[in-house]
Amino acid sequence: MPNWLKKAIFYEIYPQSFCDSNGDGIGDLQGIISKLDYVKEIGFNAIWLNPCYLSPFKDAGYDVQDYYKVAPRYGTNEDLYRLFDEAHKRGVRVILDLVPGHTSDECEWFKQSRLTVRNQYSDRYIWTDCVWNRPPNYPLVAGNADRDGCYMLNFFLCQPALNYGFNKITHPEWQLSYEDDRVRATFDEMLKVMRFWLDKGCDGFRVDMADSLVKNDEDKTATASLWRKARIMLDKDYPEAVLVSEWCNAPKAINEAGFHCDFVLTHHGKLTRNATRNVVNGVNESYFCKTSHASADETLKTYLNELKQTEGRGYMSLISGNHDEIRLAETLDENGVKLYFTMLLTLPGVPFVYYGDEIGMRYLPQISKEGGFQRTGSRTPMQWDSGAPNTGFSSARREDLYLDVDRRAEAPCVNEQIADSSSILNVVKTLSKIRTDNAALQADQSLSVIHCSDDGVLCYTRGKEVAVAFNPTDGEKTLPCEMGEVIFKIGDYLTQGSNVLLKPQTAVIFKLKQEI
Ligand code: NOJ
Repeated sequence: MPNWLKKAIFYEIYPQSFCDSNGDGIGDLQGIISKLDYVKEIGFNAIWLNPCYLSPFKDAGYDVQDYYKVAPRYGTNEDLYRLFDEAHKRGVRVILDLVPGHTSDECEWFKQSRLTVRNQYSDRYIWTDCVWNRPPNYPLVAGNADRDGCYMLNFFLCQPALNYGFNKITHPEWQLSYEDDRVRATFDEMLKVMRFWLDKGCDGFRVDMADSLVKNDEDKTATASLWRKARIMLDKDYPEAVLVSEWCNAPKAINEAGFHCDFVLTHHGKLTRNATRNVVNGVNESYFCKTSHASADETLKTYLNELKQTEGRGYMSLISGNHDEIRLAETLDENGVKLYFTMLLTLPGVPFVYYGDEIGMRYLPQISKEGGFQRTGSRTPMQWDSGAPNTGFSSARREDLYLDVDRRAEAPCVNEQIADSSSILNVVKTLSKIRTDNAALQADQSLSVIHCSDDGVLCYTRGKEVAVAFNPTDGEKTLPCEMGEVIFKIGDYLTQGSNVLLKPQTAVIFKLKQEI
């Protein structure tokens, strides 16, 4: 387990929307390099870069055409190597996005695979044996290639599934076992891709749909067995490199498949997910929404259970948001966002902050680009400077921008938030520093919930001596606990004997009076 993960705070960068260095309207690698000092300054010490490989961008780059080549719109391979270098000079790690489940339908492997003449790529994708053999319950495309067969999709129409075989074979005439030599080559190629970028200086991978490889693999044992091979390779040849899975089942991903971290996404519901997903009949039920008065209890149960199962083996990764989710600031007000960050940066595991969430960037409805659909509203250009054209993202003409910037008068911007000591940005910066400076708050330290009541009050301890208390509601609440030295607060509180009165929308990080 790479030691650096203990202190890691990741920043997810969506390359097309971060910073455009050459004025063509789209973000690029040189733009990211120019903002590394900002990344470091806020306290992020690792970057996850969304796919930046050659692609027709029908799913924003999650449709890879060439795993070994940077998309020209972002720069060259050399620019990416330089990004690794420049980041490392600042003590910042960079992980890439690995998309192993599917390629673009314009990938050379797929072009070869669809040919009638057998070749080395014929089994690289999943094909039925004849175009008329199209069993239901499989996402198959018929009649779209000269080859006599249907091919399977992994996600969108542009994303044919790579062939890692099947665990349970239901149609032996076209399904290969995951142990068959003909499909082993697919995972071997992915290992080669990983080696290629690791040798150039990358620090690991966020793995897209990591659980999707072997088909008919209900308990995911076969898929996990493939990933264990990747972990063995890393442990042996790249012991500092990390694997982060989009699996959303930490015990499986960590204990069985060998990932170092797994994302906690939607299934933890009301606690960690923010926004519109929790709006039921017009009522926002998110724990951090001041009017919800929701208890953290239900969600914490699932979280604590998975935390216990994975203890000492890997980390769960909570997120502020990502390129698929509605922005945090969409239904939480500014204080709610600050409280959410207080939790994100004080829970165990490895936190991930999505670009722009650190200034409370908003969701822009009703736009869609490159297969983004409703997700596009969370992918708009970073807002650097309220006084600059296109808020400092790009010098291009407005009509040439990849996506338009948030032009509303109150759109948050980095320059203004740097100057305002109470801004979300400064809260995130302070919290990042507190986490980095306090061993008790880091990835591997224990968590105990000492108070969690129906009225929304929550208090947990980290390690032996640090505690964090929350009252996210719009009413005053009592916490039965004595606080020692206060390290950080949002909102306010009053000490009342052996209780603390937490004012509305308050979070306090404090030392316990007595070590536990
Ligand atoms: C998950 C990614 O986060 C998403 O953006 C993408 O569309 C799908 N996987 C398919 O690769």
